[in-house]
Amino acid sequence: MRIGFYQFSPEFGAIDKNLNKMASTLLTTEADLIVFPELANSGYLFLNSAEAESLAEPIPGPSTEFLTKLAVERGCHIVMGMPEKSGQKRFNSAVLIGPQGVVGSYRKAHLFDEEKLHFQPGDRGFPVFEIHGVKIGILICFDHIFPESARTLALQGVQILCYPSNLVLPTYGQLTTRVRAIENHLFTILANRCGTDDRGSKQLSYTGGSQIVAPDGLVLASAPEEREQLSVVEIDPSQACGKGVSLRNDLFADRRPDLYKL
Ligand code: ACM
Repeated sequence: MRIGFYQFSPEFGAIDKNLNKMASTLLTTEADLIVFPELANSGYLFLNSAEAESLAEPIPGPSTEFLTKLAVERGCHIVMGMPEKSGQKRFNSAVLIGPQGVVGSYRKAHLFDEEKLHFQPGDRGFPVFEIHGVKIGILICFDHIFPESARTLALQGVQILCYPSNLVLPTYGQLTTRVRAIENHLFTILANRCGTDDRGSKQLSYTGGSQIVAPDGLVLASAPEEREQLSVVEIDPSQACGKGVSLRNDLFADRRPDLYKL
């Protein structure tokens, strides 16, 4: 299975431009699963909730229809972060889309900083999706720092954990997504954005450093901090099935929930 990420710098508010950029990049590669960053169609740095409202879309909606056509054309599956409008509510969501359309979506559970002003926290838990018989999970950016999120997905058999992100804190997410791969013995794909947002009264710099990590912690692909990069690697998802790390240790069977206070 060929899995990858596209690290780039979405332009704030330019949904058509950002979608077309993702589409033209995808034309240059063959992949079964590609992950784009958090809020990749809309951009991240909202000045107010009215901006978030004007850029949010239902799922399915115009952006997912665009990506479905792309998935048909490329014969691939796509994970992309996007602001979701659902009735009176907005969520910081990510969709999984294949040639058949929307496979499912995830609503970010752990909102970061000003996201709390513009979005509701996720209300649907941590769903598991399946493509080509491989179990896929999605977490979004700051979710990375809560090990319970990844563990919840791993205990449901997830083999590939996708992290569409807009990381701003130094190195945390690059470290934790490597640790989440090791402690759960699964593949992680961190698709972070790069670049700087300057919205006049607000600025943010993003940390890039997207990566694909194998269940043994080996970094299979990585991007620099500041540049756009598309990376695709070939993996065997069955490597994420067994959880044994020594003759007498299994990462899941050795857990001691009787001792944990969660
Ligand atoms: C983040 O959760 N976008 C830092």
